[in-house]
Amino acid sequence: MSPVTSKVPDQLTLPALREAAAGCRACDLYKTGTQTVFGQGAEHAQVMFVGEQPGDREDREGKPFVGPAGRVLDEALEEAGIDRRRVYITNAVKHFKWKPQGKRRLHQKPNAAEINACRPWLDGEIAVVKPHLLVLLGATAAQALLGRDFRVSVQRAQLMERPGLPPMMATVHPSSILRAPDDETREIEMRAFVQDLKRVAQHLQR
Ligand code: URA
Repeated sequence: MSPVTSKVPDQLTLPALREAAAGCRACDLYKTGTQTVFGQGAEHAQVMFVGEQPGDREDREGKPFVGPAGRVLDEALEEAGIDRRRVYITNAVKHFKWKPQGKRRLHQKPNAAEINACRPWLDGEIAVVKPHLLVLLGATAAQALLGRDFRVSVQRAQLMERPGLPPMMATVHPSSILRAPDDETREIEMRAFVQDLKRVAQHLQR
């Protein structure tokens, strides 16, 4: 395959999408990211979680939500009674955007052009998996799919509809819980996140 391809394959399958996305050059983030971090999970999951973009750990391991935010997500999923192996987890942007700060790689928010450039991969994942519900984790994913005016703080956990997309529900990004200023606030925010995920659990048919 050409190293500069970013074309969505005609044959829509997750392996074909993953392979094509690995060579994506649709924006500049491939230049600084280690690899494309494609979604992962059950092929016909009833629920798909969409985060913002891979973090430092995800960039190195090539898997979504395996770093600190992933641990918060895992804990909340477990408390809500959701088996991670039964859902599909991906990101709006599939390369890590960062800037150096000393020896660390500091997370940078993806811009609209980067989110749009990555959209065909997310649309491909949605088309193959056909989830009954999309769970949008944080403002980047929510605004990418529900529009720039969407505010998680205002319409959190509400069922939203948009033409051509499965029903959606937005909640906070797990990393916002990690950024809580103190233990008490963190606990309150975690409880609210678990509460949202319990609503998600109702969409998982046995
Ligand atoms: N944050 C995200 O939005 N996605 C990941 O995969 C990890 C951290």
